[in-house]
Amino acid sequence: MNGPHQSKSERPAASVTRLRPRRRGALLDDAQLLDTQHAFDSVAADYDGPRGNNELIQRMRLTMWDAVHAAMPAGARLLDLGCGTGIDAIEFVRRGFRVVATDWSPQMVERTRARAVAAGLQSRVTALHLGVQQLDRLEGEFDGIYSNFGPLNCAPDLRAVAAECARLLHPGGRLVFSVMGRICPWELGHYALRGRFGRARVRAARGAIAVGMNHHTIWTSYYLPREFYRAFAEHFSLDSYRALSLFMPPPYLVDYYRRRRHWCERLGRLDDRLGGLPLLRDMGDHFLIAMRKR
Ligand SMILES: C[S@@+](CC[C@H](N)C(=O)[O-])C[C@H]1O[C@@H](n2cnc3c(N)ncnc32)[C@H](O)[C@@H]1O
Repeated sequence: MNGPHQSKSERPAASVTRLRPRRRGALLDDAQLLDTQHAFDSVAADYDGPRGNNELIQRMRLTMWDAVHAAMPAGARLLDLGCGTGIDAIEFVRRGFRVVATDWSPQMVERTRARAVAAGLQSRVTALHLGVQQLDRLEGEFDGIYSNFGPLNCAPDLRAVAAECARLLHPGGRLVFSVMGRICPWELGHYALRGRFGRARVRAARGAIAVGMNHHTIWTSYYLPREFYRAFAEHFSLDSYRALSLFMPPPYLVDYYRRRRHWCERLGRLDDRLGGLPLLRDMGDHFLIAMRKR
């Protein structure tokens, strides 16, 4: 899976990318965005460990990698929104793509840069400290844009993100996003059984809600796939969407998974087979959605 792939072009990703002067959006809530930034900064150093990359996350990552690989033309120039420590960016470079990787957490961006240097791939991946709310500062043309494990749940204005994605993409360009969904049966059951009904209902909240991580706050909005797509519909047609970790427990229940590995692997195979079916695809810890620029 991680083997190197050849690209059709050797042009470095950095050659198309410039930042325009900063323009502040009216919908930007600076205090909330900074809360989220500090939360992710605080975990960047160990994010490749159990918190950010356990077995269940790796399983979802493989599905995302294959979806992006299948959707994008060989050697495509890709933009990563909320790249974290750069695991996906480096994988896609190894698969022959060029990547501009962006994140709102400067510590995460540093981890991505270090990963690229350690892999000797710094000429093919550019890491930028840039929030999704600042995409108007980015210049360049991309064949595809992806975002993995919920950075877009932290975006203050999805419609603005959609408009900027449309501006940055070639005609026919693709989007592949994994987004935290509203209906996660595992989460409902897990917290309801423990009497934590408020926590069980978190994903039902309208608008952004404060979610704790490492004694910090992440401001998160949860979406049904159709709610999410509505923000993009003006510029993008919907290709497909599917559930991720509907039958399989969500990543934070990895201890449960480890105790019942064989049983859970069967559940994972159900996800692979059934996660794209109507109704089922509207649930799950995350959903994977693919769109195409009109
Ligand atoms: C759950 S992590 C996923 C990271 C990475 N995509 C991965 O798959 O490992 C969410 C990432 O979104 C980033 N993020 C949060 N708010 C953001 C924003 N407004 N703009 C861009 N990135 C953001 C965080 O810093 C963090 O790196």
